[in-house]
Amino acid sequence: MLKTLFALGLLAGASSALAADCSAELEGNDMMQYNKNEIDVPKSCKEFTINLKHPGSLAKAMMGHNVVIAKSADVQAIASDGSGAGLDADYVKPGDTRVVAHSKVIGAGETTSVTFPIAKIEGDDYAFFCSFPGHYSIMKGTLKLQ
Ligand code: CO
Repeated sequence: MLKTLFALGLLAGASSALAADCSAELEGNDMMQYNKNEIDVPKSCKEFTINLKHPGSLAKAMMGHNVVIAKSADVQAIASDGSGAGLDADYVKPGDTRVVAHSKVIGAGETTSVTFPIAKIEGDDYAFFCSFPGHYSIMKGTLKLQ
């Protein structure tokens, strides 16, 4: 058993050394929840992509989700300003320089993605969150650069 675990560990180490996975799969559901509260971002990646899927049945006007990347300390203020920007602006204030990157807002059965340079999330605590009004306090997670 220990030998098997050791071998698996070696395999995992070898594959990540060859090519780090520079993307992550994320879901946002009808219960106003992401399925992850933490995403590992390998430092060896140049860019990282988060693919968001809405597996629920509610429309985006009612239970829309997006992914916004920003410093953890800025999440609340960005969400507050984004709330006023409306659905047409994907609930992100146009030209908001605190936002590293964001996806569009999606509803039931839809997918979207957001890609950002690794260099933009170095040196501070960064988060991913949904800026749909009222969602950020629950739909929020940490980007772990490692
Ligand atoms: Co949401």
